[in-house]
Amino acid sequence: METKKLIVDNNVNKIEVYSQAVEKLMSGEVVAFPTETVYGLGAIATDEQAVAKIFEAKGRPSDNPLIVHVGKAYDIVKYVTSVPEKADACIKAFWPGPLTLILDAKPNTFAPNVTAGLSTVGLRMPDHPVALELLTMLNHPVAAPSANRSGKPSPTTALHVEKDLNGRIPLILDGGATGIGLESTVVDFTVDPPVILRPGGVTAHMLREVIGEVIEPETTKVDEASVPRAPGMKYAHYAPDAPVYLIQPDVNSVKKAIQTIHMNQQKVALLATDEFSQGGADWFFSLGDQQNLETSAQHLYAHLRSCDETTADMILVTVPEKTGVGAAIFNRLEKAADGNWWHS
Ligand code: TXA
Ligand code: MG
Repeated sequence: METKKLIVDNNVNKIEVYSQAVEKLMSGEVVAFPTETVYGLGAIATDEQAVAKIFEAKGRPSDNPLIVHVGKAYDIVKYVTSVPEKADACIKAFWPGPLTLILDAKPNTFAPNVTAGLSTVGLRMPDHPVALELLTMLNHPVAAPSANRSGKPSPTTALHVEKDLNGRIPLILDGGATGIGLESTVVDFTVDPPVILRPGGVTAHMLREVIGEVIEPETTKVDEASVPRAPGMKYAHYAPDAPVYLIQPDVNSVKKAIQTIHMNQQKVALLATDEFSQGGADWFFSLGDQQNLETSAQHLYAHLRSCDETTADMILVTVPEKTGVGAAIFNRLEKAADGNWWHS
């Protein structure tokens, strides 16, 4: 299959570009498009065969459900049995935006492979002009996971999508680099108090300001044998080719770690904030200023992908504080490292 990439900005014939995307989706194909978080790979959420193509292109396990994207907030009343008060308050406060709400789905509304057989569904309205234009023109709900090969870091540029899915999907809408760089916050509103299943750009603090108590799980570690509350949590995620090790942001510990790695005749890539740039690593990828977690989030996945273009034997990453967006960064890093910390 040939993968076509169309640039969507003010200089090209927008209507024609969107029409091509709408036509592909309406005919049961998948299309990659930008959102404010990461690029998504979309199919019409009621079309089981089209949704199956998402799983196939990504190599995604079929028990990991997809998020359904809507172009108008109150479209969701057509799809869910009820919108609890707290969910409604969050929709008013955060949509369009990086918040996915888990709600009870009306039976037989979406293709069964969208929800992986669950009775609940994840819904969000993305805050990106291209995604919103596409959803509005299409006038159907779109199931879309991140547009990466399963296990790889989520794509924050059209080039990342192309690298992972070239030849596997017919169309990529290129809207430039995404703003936030990490996937949406996923919150389960079928329980009270609501539970954060995946931290993201809408932080626990922001949620509490609107709805009071929310449960923030202590750890993302999931027992393989257990049935995870957020399906898919048990799978490898965001993983570059070389093993990732987490390390506390301490200049001496990082220096010592790099020396030990070099003594073992190995090469190391370091992802860290700027004060670690002189640490002696073979490759250094800047996560920006320690005070600016938003910048770290924006660049994290691109840097993890860049490590695959080096010959590093291992990747060391300094962890941020778990406050604000730091919680989301920490969560993705723990998964990228499969829970491994550097011990010298
Ligand atoms: O920002 C985002 O959310 C991006 C963009 C493209 O919108 N999408 C995204 O999708 O990250 P994906 O498939 O990579 O992650 C979806 C997450 C998974 O962790 C999945 O387990 C969870 O949402 N999820 C989806 N439906 C669920 C449900 N009914 N119950 C619990 N978790 C659910
Ligand atoms: Mg994903």
